Amino acid sequence: MNELTQSNDTYFLGHPKGLVTLFLTEMWERMSFYGMRGLLVLFMTREVIDGGLDLDPVTAMAIYGVYGASVYFLCVPGGWVADKIFGAQKTVLYGALIITLGHYVLAIPHEKTFFLGLVLVSIGTGLLKPNISTIVGQLYKPGDLRIDSGYTIFYMSINIGSMLGYLVCGYLGEKIGWHWGFGAAGVGMTFGVIQYILTKNSLGDAGLLPTLEAGEDSSSYFSIFSIGAIIFALLVFSAFLGVWTIDPQFLNQLIVYLILFVAIFYFVYLYLFADLNKAERGNISMLLLLFIGSVLFWAGFDQGGSSLNLFAKDYTDLFIFGWEMPATFLQVANPLMVVIFAPFFAAFWINLGKRNLDLDTPQKFAIGCFLMAIGFFIMIFGVEVALENEKAGVKWLLLTYLFHTLGELCLSPVGLSATAKYSPKRYKGQMMGIWFLSSSLAAGLAGLLASQSFESGISSMPTLFNQIILALVAVGVILLIANKFVKASADLDDSPN
Ligand code: PHE
Repeated sequence: MNELTQSNDTYFLGHPKGLVTLFLTEMWERMSFYGMRGLLVLFMTREVIDGGLDLDPVTAMAIYGVYGASVYFLCVPGGWVADKIFGAQKTVLYGALIITLGHYVLAIPHEKTFFLGLVLVSIGTGLLKPNISTIVGQLYKPGDLRIDSGYTIFYMSINIGSMLGYLVCGYLGEKIGWHWGFGAAGVGMTFGVIQYILTKNSLGDAGLLPTLEAGEDSSSYFSIFSIGAIIFALLVFSAFLGVWTIDPQFLNQLIVYLILFVAIFYFVYLYLFADLNKAERGNISMLLLLFIGSVLFWAGFDQGGSSLNLFAKDYTDLFIFGWEMPATFLQVANPLMVVIFAPFFAAFWINLGKRNLDLDTPQKFAIGCFLMAIGFFIMIFGVEVALENEKAGVKWLLLTYLFHTLGELCLSPVGLSATAKYSPKRYKGQMMGIWFLSSSLAAGLAGLLASQSFESGISSMPTLFNQIILALVAVGVILLIANKFVKASADLDDSPN
């Protein structure tokens, strides 16, 4: 089986056969993840008579924030579990099974099963998402130049999957019944699991074993993991039985502070106690800059699934040719535009490179922040139209998503590789965790912002969006200025490793 993962394997678009397995698994996982996520705030805010939970938008946005933050926060222990105990291949399988179960639990129309389903999907995604991304890299031998295009193809699977999810789950959920949408996510994920089990062999030994160092032993890690899992299960179970309840907005704030604390602690540790030399410290400053840019960017971006999604449902004229389309269909704009524009962006960066006009990563992040700000600037006009005429045209959201997507293409593809390049050698694995931690903090922050954007209906939106714009522009400018100083002290190690 091993030969399949050697560099001469060109089975799929010139790439190893294992990439098909990972492509399809990630596609179905993202189909279920985004399909369900697109329905989440809509379902929570509909009245009981319409099959919803009748929550006020502020609470719904906070729950969405807690969910998003948990999903990406759990990627950190998810990576650890694969590294130390099960290996990435098995961890992906366990994650996929838990996600599938989660979606089927969500399909049961009951308030309690709703929260249990969300917990299961978060845990499963934490186990699957970081590890499937790692296996992609391990399909290639060190130094194989196809690795970047392998990741580009993988990024396509993410976006094709999410398009499928928004269309299928969105249609079923909004037009037939919410739980049909959640069930469809479960069916999609079932395809993903079956496919993964049947074709897992083609991964060869990529991610097959834990990456333990000499003298380390999986069984002691397994004990730590079991204790953690039991405490977690008890907490969830007691909440399920109603032993304790917690205000979602408070929990949202708590989670944001907690993640912020972890991030600050980690960066301070790296600066002061990790025994790094001057150049490595410079690299850490660079990563800190990117971390801040990434948090702010994704916090804005995440409004797409929450506040902007609710704006689509309740304040946008969704009729085309006399048919009212599901609000989730507008979410297709982002993944569709990623698939269309990604090749142009790749060619553009190469072209700049040829002319020696290469942009530094923080400069690309700054452009991403500015594009995101333009998106919100356009949205302010959309909100004003809705405030005057009850409903706004779809063009406002579509234009906003266009700029958000252009921003994503500047920032997202380079973020991961920059993390790999600038991380001190001994800390590479953990620094990947930091990249997911930035998404997690962003999702938590997004929940707080989205709650605020509905404090007094959509009339709160323009003020909040203005603040988001100011913050994005400020961070963009800081990134540009700090880049000059940090670049001087950083030492970019480009050698493949
Ligand atoms: N569309 C990307 C994905 O689903 C968004 C993302 C970026 C998620 C970075 C996590 C981390 O994978």
